[in-house]
Amino acid sequence: MFITFEGIEGVGKTTHLKWMATALTDVGIPVLVTREPGGTPMGEEIRDILLVHRHERVAPLTELLLMFAARAQHVDTVIRPALAADRWVLCDRFVDATYAYQGGGRGVPEGLIRELESLVLGSFRPDHTILFDTPVEIGLQRVKERNNGHDRFEQEKMDFFERVRMEYLRIARLDPERYEIIDATKPLVEVQQSLSRIMTEILEKHGVH
Ligand code: TMP
Repeated sequence: MFITFEGIEGVGKTTHLKWMATALTDVGIPVLVTREPGGTPMGEEIRDILLVHRHERVAPLTELLLMFAARAQHVDTVIRPALAADRWVLCDRFVDATYAYQGGGRGVPEGLIRELESLVLGSFRPDHTILFDTPVEIGLQRVKERNNGHDRFEQEKMDFFERVRMEYLRIARLDPERYEIIDATKPLVEVQQSLSRIMTEILEKHGVH
């Protein structure tokens, strides 16, 4: 199973991903936790390039190509081998983030993203994607409280994140088979109950007991 976790900044997806990884490990499923951009030594270097503040304007196409460069490395050297070894891969963001941030946020035409997606991934897609949704003000407030400095994306204005959120929701609603939308404003226990339900459904659907 290849499961991806998505959402704007401050939705708590990283915490929820770790919770699910522990829950799966507890029932004896071997899990690999990874993230994008990153997940490989080279990918993490590309991540640094993408997130650091710089005076130079970053062209949307440069950003897009770097996201896919890191992804090509990640899929080839980490994700596919792990899946081939029967591990479940839980990934903090994947290609949907590119549609949401570079497409929705930066205005890169969807067709261009689709071309790169098909070049880099072929028909490879996540089996399930969990989208954590929260109003932008709430997400950004949480980022502020985290107080660990703002990266290049976190510096963006509200309207950027509104577009990212809307694009995520639009994509998710197009394919309810693959996407689960979780209201991340709910208390932690309720979010975990939803995750538990999703996990049980996935396990049952794929005949794991
Ligand atoms: P995060 O993993 O700490 O949330 O930060 C990664 C940042 O990179 C986040 O702001 C979203 C952004 N991003 C994109 O813009 N496009 C992508 O394809 C991915 C994977 C991430």
